[in-house]
Amino acid sequence: MKLLTIETTCDETAAAVVTDDLQILSSIVASQESLHEQFSGVVPEIAARAHVERILPVVDQAIQRADLTLDDLDAIAVAHTPGLSGSLLVGLVAAKAICVATGKPLIAINHLHAHVFACRIASGKEIFPCVGFVVSGGHSNFFHCTGATEFKHLGGTIDDAAGEAFDKVASMLGLPYPGGPAISRAALKGDPKAFSFPRPFLRDKERLEFSFSGLKTAVRYAIAGVGKPDFSKLNLSEQQVADVAASFQEAVVDCLVGKAMLALQKTGLELLCVGGGVAANKRLRQRLQESTQEHGYELQIAPFELCTDNAVMGAIASERLQAGMLEDLSLDIIPGLIR
Ligand SMILES: Nc1ncnc2c1ncn2[C@@H]1O[C@H](COP(=O)(O)OP(=O)(O)OP(=O)(O)O)[C@@H](O)[C@H]1O
Ligand SMILES: [Mg+2]
Repeated sequence: MKLLTIETTCDETAAAVVTDDLQILSSIVASQESLHEQFSGVVPEIAARAHVERILPVVDQAIQRADLTLDDLDAIAVAHTPGLSGSLLVGLVAAKAICVATGKPLIAINHLHAHVFACRIASGKEIFPCVGFVVSGGHSNFFHCTGATEFKHLGGTIDDAAGEAFDKVASMLGLPYPGGPAISRAALKGDPKAFSFPRPFLRDKERLEFSFSGLKTAVRYAIAGVGKPDFSKLNLSEQQVADVAASFQEAVVDCLVGKAMLALQKTGLELLCVGGGVAANKRLRQRLQESTQEHGYELQIAPFELCTDNAVMGAIASERLQAGMLEDLSLDIIPGLIR
């Protein structure tokens, strides 16, 4: 069976054609990075408008690259939660329109579950049961995953997501958007011990939670002191930027790795599956490898190209199709964040 998958939860307009045995027949991602970089973050209204312009060409290209026509598809799947309302609406309306025009069934995708499922697609191996860990621009959350259609939320951030903290700290340091790749590049020349930033809740062996808001504020005071600084006039040397970047990255990675081990210990599960944009961070990947190995756990991390938003990971919908979990046209978006 062949599925068209659509992803418009945030600022990537993406469509793919995948099969129920997880072959990728095509994948198109139209990034909006250049539209949002001047604001150092995603502007929801701009994102929604850009999705409107791109969604049909992106869907067309995905079908053409797969060398198929709409008639060849067995179902249309769309990410309807979580995300930005305007962005989600564009993808959902496009998916519904194709279903109405073709009579094909509609399938709902949870974007966070899809981030975890990227590990299943890439590894070619069964991943369930596992602890699913989504570290992205909007989320830092754990799930107890017993199957592709059974995810139970275990815990996560109580304020900022890890990716959001990377983006905001990068902006303070005068580094480009998106901040994650810029910080990890700068950190290569920095000393991770130069600044001692907080690791909230890390020693608390009960709390499966993160808080990155205070860490971000600690960086702000370290580089700009008290008062109302003009970050564009800070005049930090290249080495100072590198040291802050490396120390900040190490603090985030310590928290992410520490709580991932706690999630495995608490659930008794043996496999950790990690997805989302921050999972592209090389230091995080290295530290997760080391820690899982040390504690005797298995690890799957989404490959770089499937970490940030894409429609391929929407292949999780094939499991819903097989389970007969179809939607009717009353399917709505569920915007916002899972906390
Ligand atoms: N190498 C990296 N190191 C750290 N963070 C990174 C890296 N590469 C990308 N990121 C971060 O990943 C985030 C984007 O990831 P993703 O596209 O999965 O998020 P999102 O879809 O906006 O959020 P969500 O999935 O929660 O809805 C950005 O915050 C970006 O800074
Ligand atoms: Mg995402």
